[in-house]
Amino acid sequence: MKSEFNFDVLVIGSGGAGLTLALKLANSHTNVAVLSKFALTAGSTYYAQGGISAVFDANDSLESHLNDTLDSGAGLCDEEIVRLTVNHGKESIDWLREQGVLFTEEQTINGETKLHLNREGGHSHRRVVHTADATGKAVSLSLIERAEENSNITLFENHNIIDLITENNCCVGAYVFNSRKQKVETFAAKIIVLATGGASKAYLYSTNPQSSTGDGMAVAWRAGCRVSNLEFMQFHPTCLYHPAGHSFLISEAVRGEGGRLILPDGSAFMHHFDERGELAPRDIVARAIDHEMKKRGIDCVYLDISHRPASFIREHFPNIYQQCLEFDIDMTQQPIPVVPAAHYTCGGVLTDSFARTDIENLYAVGEVACTGLHGANRMASNSLLECLVFAERASEDIKQKLPTLTMPKNLPFWDESKVSDSDEEVVVSHNWNELRHFMWDYVGIVRTDKRLYRAMNRVELLKKEIAEYYAHFRVTSDLLELRNLVIVAELIIRCAQQRKESRGLHYTLDYPQTDNSKPAQNTVLKPDSSCTPHSK
Ligand code: FAD
Ligand code: SIN
Repeated sequence: MKSEFNFDVLVIGSGGAGLTLALKLANSHTNVAVLSKFALTAGSTYYAQGGISAVFDANDSLESHLNDTLDSGAGLCDEEIVRLTVNHGKESIDWLREQGVLFTEEQTINGETKLHLNREGGHSHRRVVHTADATGKAVSLSLIERAEENSNITLFENHNIIDLITENNCCVGAYVFNSRKQKVETFAAKIIVLATGGASKAYLYSTNPQSSTGDGMAVAWRAGCRVSNLEFMQFHPTCLYHPAGHSFLISEAVRGEGGRLILPDGSAFMHHFDERGELAPRDIVARAIDHEMKKRGIDCVYLDISHRPASFIREHFPNIYQQCLEFDIDMTQQPIPVVPAAHYTCGGVLTDSFARTDIENLYAVGEVACTGLHGANRMASNSLLECLVFAERASEDIKQKLPTLTMPKNLPFWDESKVSDSDEEVVVSHNWNELRHFMWDYVGIVRTDKRLYRAMNRVELLKKEIAEYYAHFRVTSDLLELRNLVIVAELIIRCAQQRKESRGLHYTLDYPQTDNSKPAQNTVLKPDSSCTPHSK
């Protein structure tokens, strides 16, 4: 029997990774569905500010991009993957321009036009292609427009994946919650691609939108995929500190243009921590800020670019300037109060260089995946590049594979006969709050064995409560997210517990040094038999 929905390829996620892949496949007459949990613009891609790293400057080189990435990754990047990624920088930007993305340009002294390049932490050259300070919005809107006009792509908003359907370690479909109709639908597909973004919403303070609840990681884990390096949660050093600011990001490009981090008394401090000062890799800057805040008992530090001309600031950072003004902060005149917040999940579903996972016909692209590019700390603006490069790699592999596959049939339908409507939905929001608080307090920028142990105890309790709730009540979007977040929190803690050293983004007071006595190791977790997906 055929399922309700049948597609050659089902892409879960409409961010930079998912839409790039869909567009590349649809142009070869593949029938593609793209799902988004909320609106099509819901992911992190839309909010990206600084830009996309690629070598365009005549003084720059692919070798330099490679070396900077390896250096930021603190010994854990896969050099072949880094090489492959940086080598495809220019063609990825060219492809985006063909899709209609307008990047910021500048005039050369000869009167020619060229791309303007931002500078960000870890990069030894200007290397970041951007659209003012709202690059993600420009990318997202162009890709959505191209997808909407492509007759081979069907877009589904408000569709939330619950679980993958697998047969003999082969992915054949997915159960999806249609939150508008409040019903579960069954999608069959020859190939499924997870492009669901990261898991930064596991933390109380995060730069990420609501969608980043690690759903793809949890779904893949329940289906039997390995995950890797989840201890490397990146905290962005500079988010606006304001009660109504919702961790609004102040782009690293502000530091790239001379912004200085200062204490309440106006003194600079980054040079005490790293000779690159404000442009050291993110792990170092975030830790330095955390150190100063804890040592001095202060609520925030400040980012000051007011020494640059006001017209320059308004032209380069129109979005940040406006957002700050809304909170009565004029960044052309005064320093911006900033704090670190959870920003990027370096680890994720383990994939190979074609974005293939451990399960046949299941791929993962973008922030949900762990390709080996970022190692122990992602360098700024390498994430969007990774989305583009690995979507291209996956599309090449999928195009070759599709002709050999047939549409899966007779998928088991979702059975809700044993569940009822919840009588106490407040439990879900209480558990959400609890989880995000203890992840922030115990699994944050600075960790200890004891803190991780405390966090794990709380995860165990929550897991039981949530499993019971899930077994008895009809699904809601909030419940699905919570069910995934608790799994991802557990995986982050388990990865952190395995790493008995400090490296990149994982810093623990119990093992403050990097262990250089042996080659650096990735942390890899394998699901055990108790983690198989189950329908209701
Ligand atoms: P996302 O863009 O997050 O998209 C995820 C998609 O999956 C969304 O459509 C979402 O609705 C969908 N989804 C999630 N869960 C489900 C589910 N259960 N069911 C169905 N759909 C689901 N990186 C850079 O390289 N340069 C930058 O300048 C930059 N700036 C950033 C600024 C901010 C504020 C943030 C938050 C991140 C920034 N990053 C930047 C990181 C980068 O934006 C992200 O890593 C990247 O956009 C991730 O793209 P993605 O396609 O993997 O996921
Ligand atoms: C920023 O603009 O600071 C974010 C860049 C990134 O996360 O890569």
